[in-house]
Amino acid sequence: MTKKIAVIPGDGIGIEVVAAGLSVLQKIGKKFGHTFEYTKALAGGIALDTAGIPLPGETLAKCRESDAVLLGAVGGPKWDMNPQHLRPEQALLGLRKELGLYSNIRPAKIYSALVGASTLKKDVVDGVDLIVVRELTGGLYFGTPRGIEERDGEKVGFNTMIYSESEIRRIARSAFEIARARRKKVCSVDKANILETSQLWRAVVTGIAKDFPEVELSHMYVDNCAMQLIRNPKQFDVIVTENMFGDILSDAAAMLTGSIGMLASASVGGTVAMYEPVHGSAPDIAGQNKANPIATIASVAMMLRFSFSLGKEADAIETAIEDVLRAGLRTGDIFTEGTTLVGTREMADHICQRI
Ligand code: IPM
Ligand code: MG
Repeated sequence: MTKKIAVIPGDGIGIEVVAAGLSVLQKIGKKFGHTFEYTKALAGGIALDTAGIPLPGETLAKCRESDAVLLGAVGGPKWDMNPQHLRPEQALLGLRKELGLYSNIRPAKIYSALVGASTLKKDVVDGVDLIVVRELTGGLYFGTPRGIEERDGEKVGFNTMIYSESEIRRIARSAFEIARARRKKVCSVDKANILETSQLWRAVVTGIAKDFPEVELSHMYVDNCAMQLIRNPKQFDVIVTENMFGDILSDAAAMLTGSIGMLASASVGGTVAMYEPVHGSAPDIAGQNKANPIATIASVAMMLRFSFSLGKEADAIETAIEDVLRAGLRTGDIFTEGTTLVGTREMADHICQRI
């Protein structure tokens, strides 16, 4: 099989973790006889520095011509004071919108070897296996009107949380389809006691549930969900929620697994899907061979499984990750006493060796 992948390392540790991810992909290609062709593309701070905009048209074109996109992370203190449209994060929002990636799948599964690395008690996190399905191209992050303006002699900032029925319908379907292949439970998270968008959300999700009679649907307010994720995360199978709630809850879910450096994601819905670690660019440790590459390597596994239907190859990566963790190898973020501290490259090499 030959596949074309647009590779966007981005900024900070994005560069290192993507290099690690590609080394694993290389190994898979060699072992299973596939060819992966890469086209490097710029986005985020590095694109601002070289092209003056966070998401050059050329990058989008390269993504559209590829079979999948692998992204590292964007952003850094250097660009934090930039005006809104010249912030690195705009590249991510632009890619999601332009590629039509409305469904963001963020699995949080605890590796048994890492049960001790979580800040939560062992019996709370042991066995956690949930997926946050985050709506990715609507809601508060994209709604208009938005802005900062002068009203009655002072500045006001405002945003719009808006969802159409069709936007809710398609993300709900995405969640039910995923749940159908798992433990068959969807928890739809909203704030329907306050927000009209949430009231519509709840009604539409309830309607879609009728098409999936084998899946059990429950509803939960977002504040309660934040609490339940920490109190009893094992109650969840698939959580479906709007863009900002999903952004926040998926970071919380990530910590159940010990570190956000473990969490992979897939953004789907358009013709090409995008795969990226959930963590950001971590400027404080960038360029020091300290970053945990597992989130990116696991994202590569998701790419193989979802975009290329290479289930066996994806399994090989996931098993190799489990093996290195069981062997006691750890990057700093998941290090505990008695385990062996390794760098980004070494972690990737160990995973490659076990494939
Ligand atoms: C994420 C990140 C992004 C988001 C930022 C960097 C724009 O937090 O992917 O969760 O808010 O979606
Ligand atoms: Mg986030």
